[in-house]
Amino acid sequence: MTGPGGLPMPGLARMAEVTRAISEATRRGPGEAVGRWLIHEPWSIVGQRNTVKAKNRIVMPAIPTGLASTQGDATDAMNEWYRARSVGGVGLILVEPAHVIRDAGARDSSPVRGEFSPRLVIDEKSDQTALRSLSDAIRSSGAVPGISLALPSERDIGAAALSDFKLWITAVAVASSACEGAGFEVIELVFSHDGLVHRSLRRATNRRTDRFGRGEAGRFRLARELARSAVTAAMSPVIVKFAIDQRRWGGLNAEAGTRLALALQDDGVAALEIVGGDRWDDASLQLSCGVGEGPVIARTSGAILPGVRIPIIASGRLLSPTGAEETLRDTNATAVAMGRALVADPSWVAKARAGVEEEIVPCIGCLGCHSAMDGGTIGCVVNGDEVHITGLHVQQTSYPLNIAVLGAGLPGLEFARVASSRGHDVTVIPGTMPLGGVTGLRSSVPGNAEFGRAFLYFGDRLREFGSGLGETIPDDCDLIVDARPLPGPKLSWAVGRSVLTASSVLGRDLHQMYGIGRRVAICGPGSLAGEVALFLAGWGRRPTVVVPGTSDNPFPDAHPMHALRLVERLAGYKCDLVTDSTPVEWNETLDRKHRLTVRRGDGTTAMLGPFQTAVEATGWSEPQVTSPTETVVNGTRTIVLGDSQSFDTVRKLVHWANQLARTV
Ligand SMILES: Cc1cc2nc3c(=O)[nH]c(=O)nc-3n(C[C@H](O)[C@H](O)[C@H](O)COP(=O)(O)O)c2cc1C
Ligand code: SF4
Repeated sequence: MTGPGGLPMPGLARMAEVTRAISEATRRGPGEAVGRWLIHEPWSIVGQRNTVKAKNRIVMPAIPTGLASTQGDATDAMNEWYRARSVGGVGLILVEPAHVIRDAGARDSSPVRGEFSPRLVIDEKSDQTALRSLSDAIRSSGAVPGISLALPSERDIGAAALSDFKLWITAVAVASSACEGAGFEVIELVFSHDGLVHRSLRRATNRRTDRFGRGEAGRFRLARELARSAVTAAMSPVIVKFAIDQRRWGGLNAEAGTRLALALQDDGVAALEIVGGDRWDDASLQLSCGVGEGPVIARTSGAILPGVRIPIIASGRLLSPTGAEETLRDTNATAVAMGRALVADPSWVAKARAGVEEEIVPCIGCLGCHSAMDGGTIGCVVNGDEVHITGLHVQQTSYPLNIAVLGAGLPGLEFARVASSRGHDVTVIPGTMPLGGVTGLRSSVPGNAEFGRAFLYFGDRLREFGSGLGETIPDDCDLIVDARPLPGPKLSWAVGRSVLTASSVLGRDLHQMYGIGRRVAICGPGSLAGEVALFLAGWGRRPTVVVPGTSDNPFPDAHPMHALRLVERLAGYKCDLVTDSTPVEWNETLDRKHRLTVRRGDGTTAMLGPFQTAVEATGWSEPQVTSPTETVVNGTRTIVLGDSQSFDTVRKLVHWANQLARTV
């Protein structure tokens, strides 16, 4: 989108133009804006007594926001969060898992780190008025309001008494009719994500010998009775979410999943949301960050379809409009659930529909949102706007400043994006780091390519808003924002001509690889060591990763899903992984058969090698994250922000960067 003469429009004018394009597209009928895209076509969920029509096939799946009140009720902030996704064009919103048993409401039933709290609770004590205002907020801005119901996850299915089963079945009925009474038009039962019912479905976790275990019919019984209970209690269509996850979790394979789907169809369930658990060990994912694109989902949901007539919602790692479209086109899925994509950009659908895909704030698959922000709420690493706000509502500045941003990591880029959109004159000075800072360096690692999406997005925004890249701080600079990472500590073992740092290795090209021998020891406290090893393995080196972590958990700093994938990829590249070891000394020899002495956890030492090169992969020191600090350096105001290799920290810094840039 360009202004007169084909020139990029300045910040706010361009935002206004994009917003106009989005709202025009929203007014137009489905498909008109971008041709006949399946994702924009309407579909129906036919329940036993009611049919619901959604205007498009994009579903917002169950994700806890941490925005409930301490009593577990809906709040204004929660209404805003979902309203933003509804205004942003989503067809069906399945509000976050609401606990049907009050005691479990405050606890974290998510399979992910971090505590999203407070959680929503739906029982006879719930505030129906608050719940109704939530469903109204969603409906009045265009989406169908649905809600997910969850059972406690901390209960052991093996230890549950028959009276517990009765209690749960009744609680689901009570909650279903309460949700319907509050205006929710679709009820989803969550039987996935390691919750109680998920554990009842899996052979590996359900060892009961009574009628709620003992064979497949027994393991399905709780799910089916809960589904029938909801179908009987509510006029609204009932959706069930479950996982095909035999290989990873010892759960259902595709055939068993199909049998469960057929049984639930007989029980009156109107649609299924399928999570593709088996995607984990798919060889095609070795080079992808996280969990694969559309075709993986396609295989999972396609496999479940023989004989199943009710719609399937394919769920898991659909990030781009083309990935979502391909899933609908190449499989029998009727709709697609997009979780993280809609966390990163509430207006994802409207932008896709308006044909401004490049405006979508990209999800880079980092899993940073899988742990809660301080205060228990959800937040995205790339999107520094408060996640319930649609678009960039910023005020044009009356006093344009000349601002230099040192460092081009996500925090620096976010600051530059918002400040330049307000009319400040911003120069970004990357220095010795690439565009993207620490995350940019890490994007050169096989499997991390998606991190690069963020820099395309920021690069486009900065160009449009008129920011430039520079090498030095301009003379007339009014404000410096220092968003560079802090160098790591000097380590006593890491001395010698053949010792390199991770930051000097990552991102090298073929010519710069000379001097790095074939056998490389890479030592660090966590996942950076593994990433450097993958990078070097991709260039034909034979890395040995040396970490202090245990063999069960070699990369404790990484999200468990990323840590697992890292281990799988290292094995795929035949990298050696030495755990429980900390480097003590690097001994160089004239014949380049260097040795590394390590101390084991039990106090003994061992000598590893020979190696030609060692890489010290401790990385960067964590910035001071209590708040950004402001000082005056050589007469120029300087705000220290920083950059980090931890996505938790980057997310915090990106949110600060956004807030700071709104106020300077
Ligand atoms: C931060 C986060 C927390 C989630 N927590 C839950 C949960 O508690 N229960 C659940 O059924 N699904 C949960 N999900 C999974 C989503 O409902 C959905 O299946 C998933 O996000 C789809 O994959 P995608 O994010 O790659 O699109 C969560 C997803 C995210 C991103
Ligand atoms: S935090 Fe990372 S994974 Fe989550 S939505 Fe944002 S970019 Fe995607």
